[in-house]
Amino acid sequence: MSNIVIVGAQWGDEGKGKIVDIFTEYADLIVRFQGGNNAGHTIVVDGEKTVLHLIPSGILHQNKKCIIGNGVVVDPEVLIDEIDALKKRGRFEDDRLLISEDAHLIMPYHKKIDATKENLKGIRKIGTTGRGIGPAYEDKTARAGIRVADLIDESVFRDKLKFILMEKNHLLVNLLHQSGFEVHDIYDKYMGFAERLRGYVTNTSIYINNEIKKGKNVLFEGAQGTLLDVDHGTYPYVTSSNTVAGSACSGTGVGPTHINGVIGISKAYTTRVGEGPFPTEQNGLMGDWFREKGHEYGATTGRPRRCGWLDAVVLRHAARVNGLTGMVITKLDILSTLGKIKICTGYTFEGKTYYEFPSNKRIMLGAEPVYEEMDGWMEDLSDIRDFDSLPSNTKKYINRIAELSGVETIMVSVGMERDQTILLKNPFE
Ligand code: GDP
Ligand code: IMO
Ligand code: MG
Repeated sequence: MSNIVIVGAQWGDEGKGKIVDIFTEYADLIVRFQGGNNAGHTIVVDGEKTVLHLIPSGILHQNKKCIIGNGVVVDPEVLIDEIDALKKRGRFEDDRLLISEDAHLIMPYHKKIDATKENLKGIRKIGTTGRGIGPAYEDKTARAGIRVADLIDESVFRDKLKFILMEKNHLLVNLLHQSGFEVHDIYDKYMGFAERLRGYVTNTSIYINNEIKKGKNVLFEGAQGTLLDVDHGTYPYVTSSNTVAGSACSGTGVGPTHINGVIGISKAYTTRVGEGPFPTEQNGLMGDWFREKGHEYGATTGRPRRCGWLDAVVLRHAARVNGLTGMVITKLDILSTLGKIKICTGYTFEGKTYYEFPSNKRIMLGAEPVYEEMDGWMEDLSDIRDFDSLPSNTKKYINRIAELSGVETIMVSVGMERDQTILLKNPFE
């Protein structure tokens, strides 16, 4: 029996969707534990692309249960659209999805507040996905949220909505100078959602723990990345949830004693969407080269991703705050044809060298990377399926990443397809 957590080791979009889909083969339950439809997880199987925002990336395998845990914020409209789109393609069966009754709902006012506050911030904006994530988590912490359990009880939902809308309309109309919402509009719409989703709703903590008792394997699927964690990321340029491995427990109601391993996913270089510090970012030709060759455009918002060299300070930070037991390196194929490849090993700022990610915003934003340079490779990696057949400089690069991060490489990925993967050590075995 193995229960494994998968998290992003950088700023998101590391290829978690692809890797979760691959490890689903060895798992029985695939569980999302935080974030919402700010996530965009891409899976490509036999040329067919699937982008998932809320449904766990195990859905393309038959007979696996996909679970939305209590730590996720759920936009019911997006979830229903995702279910319908998968059903149309014959990729969804009703008995394979469970939704936690304790998960919080994203409401229409959350999206409006997200967008309005971003606009007001001007140059200090976070660059959110505009999906209402921050305001929904704010309400959860402020004890003003509406949960899935409330949605499926008509009288509780109406009562809570009426009460909460008074405050939200005051905020929207009087402080943010926007139009407000009518109770009956939201009520009618959400009662429709309730009917569609009721059948999937349960106490998922009880369900998962019972399955663990039976010896089933659980794969916990993180969204976003470590540097977007609200505590351990580049605050305030982060998302509003804990994205680190510890969140897999609080976000599902499974105790830490049941977790057997934590796998970090890292690209062979670095990308980030939205604002905030990114010491190894490459503006100009090098950044454009990564973006075009790696198709670095957001899976959720379509925004161009900021691109740069691999940052080992970031990976060491991720190794520590997640307790990583293994690392997967994706998109190695993209680096082919580079004569030299740089890895950042530390930063300098005002004459001082830093080997750990700084918390001070001024240092984060002003940090100058210290690079070491390695020889690149010209060969195309996309058809290689075993480690030994990789060019020797590719192997050196992979080994150097393991040395610098202090985490063993358990898999490398050389293309977007499910089978463009080299498995070195299976965490489920
Ligand atoms: P996630 O949010 O971590 O699941 O990552 P995204 O799906 O947002 O972005 C990763 C992108 O890289 C997707 O378009 C994947 O299809 C693609 N991808 C994943 N692994 C590889 C790889 O090894 N090589 C290439 N070329 N593309 C990859
Ligand atoms: P996946 O799971 C990359 C970024 C946004 C913004 C910040 C806050 O696909 O890796 P939010 O809407 O969460 O309040 O935005 O976080 N962000 C992501 N960046 N991948 C993601 O998810 C992201 N989810 C949020 O761009 O900078
Ligand atoms: Mg993504």
